[in-house]
Amino acid sequence: MTIRLTDVHKTYRVGEVANHVLQGVSCTIEAGDYVALMGASGSGKSTLLNIIGGLDTDFDGEVTVCGQVLKRMGDRELSRFRNRTVSFVFQQFHLLPHLPVVDNVMMPSWFDPDRSQLDLHDRARQVLAQVGLAHKAGSTANHLSGGEKQRVAIARAIFNAPQVLLCDEPTGALDSKTGDMVMQVFEELHAKTRDMTLIMVTHAESIAQRCRRIIRISDGAILSGDA
Ligand SMILES: Nc1ncnc2c1ncn2[C@@H]1O[C@H](COP(=O)(O)OP(=O)(O)OP(=O)(O)O)[C@@H](O)[C@H]1O
Ligand SMILES: [Mg+2]
Repeated sequence: MTIRLTDVHKTYRVGEVANHVLQGVSCTIEAGDYVALMGASGSGKSTLLNIIGGLDTDFDGEVTVCGQVLKRMGDRELSRFRNRTVSFVFQQFHLLPHLPVVDNVMMPSWFDPDRSQLDLHDRARQVLAQVGLAHKAGSTANHLSGGEKQRVAIARAIFNAPQVLLCDEPTGALDSKTGDMVMQVFEELHAKTRDMTLIMVTHAESIAQRCRRIIRISDGAILSGDA
C-alpha cells in the first residue's frame, strides 16, 4: 500500500507565463508512515498533496497510490479512489456550517448510495468518539470551536477508513494549544490505525518534529527526507 512518485513534473500556465512548480519529484512513502511535508510558501506542497489525492491529474511522471496508478484510472475508478482510498483534512475545515455534526461526518456516504442509514449513524458515532466528540453529534457545526471543527473534519475524513490521510496545514488556523490537541488526535489515530499513511503539510518545525520523518521540498524537488 505504498505511495510511489517517480519523476513528477507539474507546470501551471497562466497566459504566457509557465510556472514549473514540480520539477522531478521522486519519493516513496510506505504504508503506515507518518510524514511531515515542509517547504517555503509556494514550493508546491499543496500541489503535491492534490496530485497524490487524485484531485489533480494534469501532471507528468508516474504516481502510484496503494497499487493504483493514478494516470491509468478512468473517471469512475478515480471517484472511488477519492472517496475510499484517500481523504483530506484542510486548514479551513470546510464543514457545512448549518448541518449537525453527525451529518457533516456522514458526508462521504452521500456519494455511496448502497449503504444502509443505520450503519451510517453507527459509523458516524464511532468516528466521532475516536476524536473525542461523541457528545457533540447533534450540535450544529457552526456552534463549535475551531479545534472542535477540525476534529469533526478529521472524523469525516476517516469515516470511510481511508488508507491515506492527506492533511494540508490542519493546525494552520488554530492557536498553538488547540493545534496541539489536534495533533494528539492525529497521533492517536496513527497509533490505532497502523496501516493508514498520514502526510501532513506544515510550516511549523515543532509540528513536523512530531511526525515520524520530514520530507522537504525546495526548487521543485525533494531536498531531504526520502526513505
Ligand atoms: N491553480 C493554480 N493556477 C496557477 N498557479 C497555481 C495554482 N495553484 C498553485 N499555483 C502556483 O503554484 C505554486 C505552488 O503552489 P502551492 O499551493 O502548491 O504551494 P504551497 O507550497 O502549498 O504554498 P503555501 O505554503 O503557501 O500553501 C505557487 O507559485 C502558486 O502560485
Ligand atoms: Mg499550500
